[in-house]
Amino acid sequence: MQLTEEEQAMLNGRYGRATQKAMEILFALGTIYGAERMLPVASAQIAGVSYDNLGEAGLEFLSEMVDGGGKVRIFSTLNPAGMDIENWRVLGISPDFAKHQKRVIELFARMGVLTTCTCTPYLAGNLPGFGEHIAWAESSAVCYANAVIGARTNREGGPSALAAAITGRTPAYGMHLDEERRPGLGVVVEKWQLSEPASLIGREASETHWFGALGKLIGEKMQSAGGRPVPYISGIPYATLEGLKSFCASLATYGGAAMFHMEGITPEAIQFSLPAEDVTISFNEVVASWQSLNGAAPEEVDFVSLGCPHLSIQEIARIAHLLDGRHVVKEFWITTSRPVKQIADQIGYTGTIEASGARFATGTCCVVAPIKGRFTAMATDSAKACYYASAKNDFKTVFLPFDDVVSLALGDQIISHPVTQSHR
Ligand code: F3S
Repeated sequence: MQLTEEEQAMLNGRYGRATQKAMEILFALGTIYGAERMLPVASAQIAGVSYDNLGEAGLEFLSEMVDGGGKVRIFSTLNPAGMDIENWRVLGISPDFAKHQKRVIELFARMGVLTTCTCTPYLAGNLPGFGEHIAWAESSAVCYANAVIGARTNREGGPSALAAAITGRTPAYGMHLDEERRPGLGVVVEKWQLSEPASLIGREASETHWFGALGKLIGEKMQSAGGRPVPYISGIPYATLEGLKSFCASLATYGGAAMFHMEGITPEAIQFSLPAEDVTISFNEVVASWQSLNGAAPEEVDFVSLGCPHLSIQEIARIAHLLDGRHVVKEFWITTSRPVKQIADQIGYTGTIEASGARFATGTCCVVAPIKGRFTAMATDSAKACYYASAKNDFKTVFLPFDDVVSLALGDQIISHPVTQSHR
């Protein structure tokens, strides 16, 4: 791989041990993937923040980087942590865990990372431009950045995203190259609009579970096609930001996708047409995909969570509207980033929501928090959250439209629970 003089100096240790280590990581990655050179990147999104996943080994790596003089050179933000840094006691997090988690966040802060603690950095100030090269970890945000924004990033891991933040570089391979962004699998979705029950629930809150179910289905088709081809999807007439963020999280979880094109919706789709190899998806299959994640009856639910990926301010507005003057009867976590929560504070949504007994879990989520064993069944509108609730926390799942998740938390009748057997 060709390095510039400055990159070679980083590798030789002229900028200190942490920068050298960071360039070693990137050089090794670039060599494995056949990169010819490094690219300058405009921003980094760093994952591997929850102490629940990092453990002492991760803390040790971060300490070494700080001790070696590690400082970020580019705008760098952080993924969710294992707890809300302010509200952790109310959420039942142990003081011991809190102590370790605070050390992790402090180490990132000392390197100059903005401790936004969100998986939707694009809603919290880290919004790249079309065609911009970036180095992001967090699979849902990677998919959103590539497909919806048209920025360019591989699915970085925690160490490689931090390495990119410290050096301002990433190896030029994968999603940074035009040829890797070409679609390889056509997906025709039939009768999507006709089957959208927008009139029942209200457009702003009706899409997320459908897009989650669709992402799961297409993700599984990608896996069976082998080699994880970039899907080109036609037949979706419109999508909101919230629908797309749900879709990205699901497609990345079930298909390992870093990129897709959606005809008429994503910015690079116009450069391509439907690939010769294609599959057709009927809306009945999408319904079946939705049903497959319902493994519990609503009465079994003892934990309710919205905000995977982290909520937009519009979604919080919707929750405040639905909870206004009511009281929840189940543990209900609302997960979002600190900047979005601060907007909610200012407008008054936080007061309305907290008066209902629901709790904000800011800068964390139902997956990265250490809650295994605390609950039996979780209700959510997120296909990604269902996957990890089952795989990581051993919860049963109830997968509902956004508004019905709130209804369940309130103890109201659910309109649309598909009664099925467990998916596990
Ligand atoms: Fe974000 Fe946690 Fe879901 S990191 S995408 S809310 S699993």
